[in-house]
Amino acid sequence: MTVEETLAGLHTSALAQLEQASTLDAIEAVRVETLGRKGRINDVSKEMGKLPPEEKARIGKLLNETKRDLEVRIDARKNALELAALEARLNAEWIDLTEPAPGVRPGSLHPVTIIQKELEQLFTSLGFAVLDGPEVELEEYNFDKLNIPPHHPARDMQDTFWLKADPGEKSRVLRTHTSPVQLRGLETLKPPLKMIAPGRVFRNEEVDASHEHTFYQLEGMMVDREVSVAHLIYFMKTFLSEVFHRDVTVRLRPGFFPFVEPGFELDIRCLICGGKGCAVCKRSGWVELCPCGLVHPEVLRAGGADPEIWNGFAFGLGLTRLAMMRYAVDDIRLFMSGDLRFLTQFRQ
Ligand code: DAH
Repeated sequence: MTVEETLAGLHTSALAQLEQASTLDAIEAVRVETLGRKGRINDVSKEMGKLPPEEKARIGKLLNETKRDLEVRIDARKNALELAALEARLNAEWIDLTEPAPGVRPGSLHPVTIIQKELEQLFTSLGFAVLDGPEVELEEYNFDKLNIPPHHPARDMQDTFWLKADPGEKSRVLRTHTSPVQLRGLETLKPPLKMIAPGRVFRNEEVDASHEHTFYQLEGMMVDREVSVAHLIYFMKTFLSEVFHRDVTVRLRPGFFPFVEPGFELDIRCLICGGKGCAVCKRSGWVELCPCGLVHPEVLRAGGADPEIWNGFAFGLGLTRLAMMRYAVDDIRLFMSGDLRFLTQFRQ
């Protein structure tokens, strides 16, 4: 075989191999095999010495051309492969810079929290302190000091979650109302005082659309030297007008609670029908809103205040109930359902 034939064969087979090579490594292998130091082109050039001088120039030129051609083709194949890989990557990692960012979904406050915050702000502006009390409360504070005697039905096992007490330990309950904070307020603030105590309360109740085992109340109390029912009515009217964003008409009916004397049920004129009578007020024109009264002397005494000097009013507002009225929610269970479709409807 002549040197030309060897070169031509080498060229053809290198191109065929190149055609087959589908990875950068495979192309590199072809390059090493043909153009490398120990490659086939070099083998040929070693043979050159044996050629007659007149042939050397011609074959030398041919050899360089073959070498150059293979170099160019190998480089081109490498570039094409790299470009294809880059394109594939670009396609896979494509980012649409014009697409709007998903953003953070805005959160919202719980409807009860919205009302609680509004009332805290309002009462603070009227000079009331905002107090917290324990949810696990001493029986003594939840009942005894509030003048609720041991035989009172409010202590019934049906209504109260009792905690197991070790012998010698004081008996505790999950507080059934926020009224025990009246005592804690009397003890820590000392009269004269104005305080509210919003918070969670618990009742061992059968749950249905209007009863929950856990709900929210807001207790209020003012103790001073000459507090009367007129003060009570003034503060109730002021805060209710604020809550409902309009003037409300209130009335008091007698109501019994062991920790107030006299005790009242406070009603507001129905905001739906204006007092004419509708389904919401059960045709009466009035909606029962909030029990209240003048603080019982025994309660003042239990809180360390001399009832000969001090007196006061107190009220216990159902925050959850108020939220139901304000937002026309007909099932109390929704409040603790954790259902975002319900919860995200309330924006401040
Ligand atoms: N603590 C009572 C309850 O949960 C409500 C209540 C009635 C609170 C009269 C008061 C009040 O402060 O004066 O049923």
